[in-house]
Amino acid sequence: MRIGVLCSGGDSPGMNAAIRGAVLRGVEVNGFEMIGFMDGWRGFFEGDFIELDRLAVRGISPLGGVILGTSRVPPFPDGNATPAALQAVITRMAELGIDGFLLIGGNGTQTVAELLTRAGVPAIGLPKTIDNDLGGTDYTFGFDTAVSIAAEAIDRLRTTGESHRRCMVLEVMGRDAGWISLHAGMAGGAQVMLIPEFPESIEQISEWVLSVRDRGRSSLVVVAEGFKLEGVAHATVRDGLDGFGRPRLGGVADVLAPLIEQHTGIETRATVLGHVQRGGLPTAFDRVLATRTGIAAADAARDGQWGTMAGLTGDQITMVPLAEAVGQLKTVPAARYDEVRLNFG
Ligand code: F6P
Repeated sequence: MRIGVLCSGGDSPGMNAAIRGAVLRGVEVNGFEMIGFMDGWRGFFEGDFIELDRLAVRGISPLGGVILGTSRVPPFPDGNATPAALQAVITRMAELGIDGFLLIGGNGTQTVAELLTRAGVPAIGLPKTIDNDLGGTDYTFGFDTAVSIAAEAIDRLRTTGESHRRCMVLEVMGRDAGWISLHAGMAGGAQVMLIPEFPESIEQISEWVLSVRDRGRSSLVVVAEGFKLEGVAHATVRDGLDGFGRPRLGGVADVLAPLIEQHTGIETRATVLGHVQRGGLPTAFDRVLATRTGIAAADAARDGQWGTMAGLTGDQITMVPLAEAVGQLKTVPAARYDEVRLNFG
């Protein structure tokens, strides 16, 4: 069996370990021939690939980024899975002699995997995203690394913030779900964590910041990039306008910090952590999770379990139907937010 491995979407620490796990199991144990497409679907359509064998994956688990590269190029022109677009994938597979795909990616990629499976293309999903917002799995690899980096940023911002009696606002990633903000904020003891799932008003946020000041402390506010400020149209915060309706140059933190300063009179500074969260070495947890995901995916291909995704359930990797995984975004439930929200201020 000849298997094509492909990475799509934003990179996520642990992708190399997942490739290594899949290749060592797939080639050495299951007897597959495996190839890796460069830069996602671009490499597939342009025939740009490398052979994946023991040598190709030697020592890559601790490496950040991904040896194959990744891109947000969709396999279907304009993102439309028309019958002609699906047929083009099937035709190209035949030309390359591919029997099935291992697709490493987040929500978008797994949705594509599900569409392909329904069209008769054998595909198995390996879930990755630092946002941890994919259904069908307890955690995605990359999340733990991103949280560790964000928690360290909080530790560092806290000392400088306290020295200057400033309110420090840290923006972390999380377009649709606030998992990074929640976990990093909890680990770093932030006084306010703002997430896309639960909008708050500037008045409420300012009240928390002032109550921290009244206790003689300086506030650390963690905000996910997709957070919506109550009373400000959703689009203004996320999609290019700041709280005053002006074109937004930075992130949500750049909108919030001046508003907090204006409402509290406390000097406030913003830090947008950005892609630092996706770079560098994966944590040991992410390496282990990714390796196990790769191994499970290779075995699922051997067993013909196409149309599934290797998700983490408790401490077991289980193959869940792709349709279940992509059905719904995994957002932070109220009960999890309540655990931290009670301590705000
Ligand atoms: O999907 C993961 C993610 O890290 C989001 O949190 C963020 O909005 C996005 O990727 C950033 O993507 P890009 O690398 O294309 O700027």
